[in-house]
Amino acid sequence: MPTSTDARPVLDEAPTTESFRTAVLTGLQKTQKRIPSKFLYDERGSELFDRICELDEYYPTRTEMGIMRRNIDAMAETIGPRTRLVEYGSGSSLKTRILLDHLEDLASYVPVDISKDHLAAAADALAEDYPAIPVQPVCADYTTSFELPDPPLPAACTVAYYPGSTIGNFRRDDARAFLERVARTVGEDGGLLIGVDLKKDVDVLKAAYDDSEGVTAAFTKNLLRRMNRELDATFDLEAFEHQVVWNADRGCIESHLRSTTAQTVSVAGETVEFEEGETIHTEDSHKYTLDGFAALANKAGFEVSRVWTDDRSYFSVQYCTVGA
Ligand code: TRP
Repeated sequence: MPTSTDARPVLDEAPTTESFRTAVLTGLQKTQKRIPSKFLYDERGSELFDRICELDEYYPTRTEMGIMRRNIDAMAETIGPRTRLVEYGSGSSLKTRILLDHLEDLASYVPVDISKDHLAAAADALAEDYPAIPVQPVCADYTTSFELPDPPLPAACTVAYYPGSTIGNFRRDDARAFLERVARTVGEDGGLLIGVDLKKDVDVLKAAYDDSEGVTAAFTKNLLRRMNRELDATFDLEAFEHQVVWNADRGCIESHLRSTTAQTVSVAGETVEFEEGETIHTEDSHKYTLDGFAALANKAGFEVSRVWTDDRSYFSVQYCTVGA
């Protein structure tokens, strides 16, 4: 249903409080308690995430930006003119500006994000700075199907933009299913420009997900705050701590909220017990090798056609086309 904040209409398919309640109650009943990471991004969560991206220890954003800046001409040429550019999980759309500055004659820019006010504000700012580009925001959970708005004038093709290595936040099976969906969305002439974080020294990884200023800890703890506010929960924020673990078998960094004591919490009228040291798993961040990602992309119907990386091979930006 289209709603509007200020002038710019946002196509609104955001998840409801009801779906948050269901996901939380189901997740907290599991042996390993878990809550899907998309619920980290309420208004405050999105702001804290922007601060994470500016931290020294959080190398992905800066490294990806550097790769984009250094290779933007080649990227723009690869993508071509009159594209409808669809960004999955656009947040503040900071990296997108590099693309918007260089892509030729964009048919439209469609930022898709789960956080409605954040999306509306980002879309308004872009529309103001890029008056020639039609900006058509969609508020949706992009892991489900949602409708893409038609550009005002027909596009030559649709290209998905998925930066930030958010692909790493899916389990490998889900990543494949998601990429298959993207391949169907962009269709045969379409493409995908994607940021993929690479395997590296474990200490570098751990510091990126557990920074010394505690911004990441505040970001994950904000989930407890959100449950208190939206689901009448009684989490004591002092009785949980942010914890990260490198899972070598699965090749991913796991983020958890660890209960520092045995406690009972009420959530949406239900009682949830925690043992001392028990955790709520909040997110996985998988790291890939170049070959590993190429294999995944192939399974989903994509062909990796270009790979750009940094000097240290910390991160990669890859262009994938849909194989015939
Ligand atoms: N997609 C980001 C990543 O995996 C999100 C993120 C950064 C994150 N730090 C986090 C998610 C800490 C949960 C906890 O790199």
